[in-house]
Amino acid sequence: MHILHSLSDLQSRCAHWRAESVITIGFVPTMGALHEGHMSLVHRAQRENTRCIVSIYVNPTQFNNPTDLASYPQKTEEDVRMLQAAGCDAVYFPQAAELYPQGMQAKQYDLGRLEELMEGGARPGHYQGVATVVESLLAHVQPAKAYFGLKDYQQVAVIRRMCTLLQLPVTIVACPTARAMSGLALSSRNALLSEAHGLAAPRIYQSLQWAALNRDGFPLSKLREAMLEKIQGTDGLLRVEYIAFGDPASLEPLDETCALPMNTPVQAFVVTQAGAARLIDNEAI
Ligand code: PAJ
Repeated sequence: MHILHSLSDLQSRCAHWRAESVITIGFVPTMGALHEGHMSLVHRAQRENTRCIVSIYVNPTQFNNPTDLASYPQKTEEDVRMLQAAGCDAVYFPQAAELYPQGMQAKQYDLGRLEELMEGGARPGHYQGVATVVESLLAHVQPAKAYFGLKDYQQVAVIRRMCTLLQLPVTIVACPTARAMSGLALSSRNALLSEAHGLAAPRIYQSLQWAALNRDGFPLSKLREAMLEKIQGTDGLLRVEYIAFGDPASLEPLDETCALPMNTPVQAFVVTQAGAARLIDNEAI
């Protein structure tokens, strides 16, 4: 596996590959502390392309909370070992100055309502930071396809919108959420969970599964109340920040006052604070 530490390393590696044969590059951007969720994207990129590149960069402009940035787990050696074992072709550790030639600042995109709804409202500036770094990474790597996880459902919508706005010649591939046996969505932030919080956290996905089975006949407001109860339980370990029900395409909130017509597509989103970790999850219900 090639370990690339600069844009020129990356460019000469890609030039070499392109001279060798017809290649398509599949690209998986990450912030490291890799787990099987990331690896599911890597495996898919490997299946669908002749070369796979993973980038690892903890992007300051998308952290609206300095404590969150400071506590973000970093495990470079383990990450490299994991990617090597998976047969990944290259890992790219970009230089901040090359990603942000105009200084460490997010650009401003017209993200429309995506910037106000759910995580847009909860984390001001977050998606501008994500769009900025992903635009820059795509310009560096120039992949045919780039892979993103649906665990971060709204992030996928933001990236698709940025690519449409800029008419970028890349296919965005959205991949299903990888989960632990308990149902808990895999996340780098799970490393911050205490044992007790780790045992309570699967209630998040259980509530989403319950909602999928029981959505018909209830107004969404009632469904939320029941989900809230299921997640919070009686131990006070999980503090729900919000539960939202959105249209799967626009993410716009749905009418919560009357029972849902059958077959209305609904994406349910849950954000929970579990001790030091802020956990997000979503599911089509
Ligand atoms: P990070 O949180 O490291 O995630 C990298 C990619 O892995 C994202 O597309 C994310 O949605 C996906 N992912 C994480 N957990 C997953 C799971 N359990 N199942 C499936 N996919 C999962 O998301 C980011 O980094 C950053 O915002 C980034 C896009 C790299 C820009 O900085």
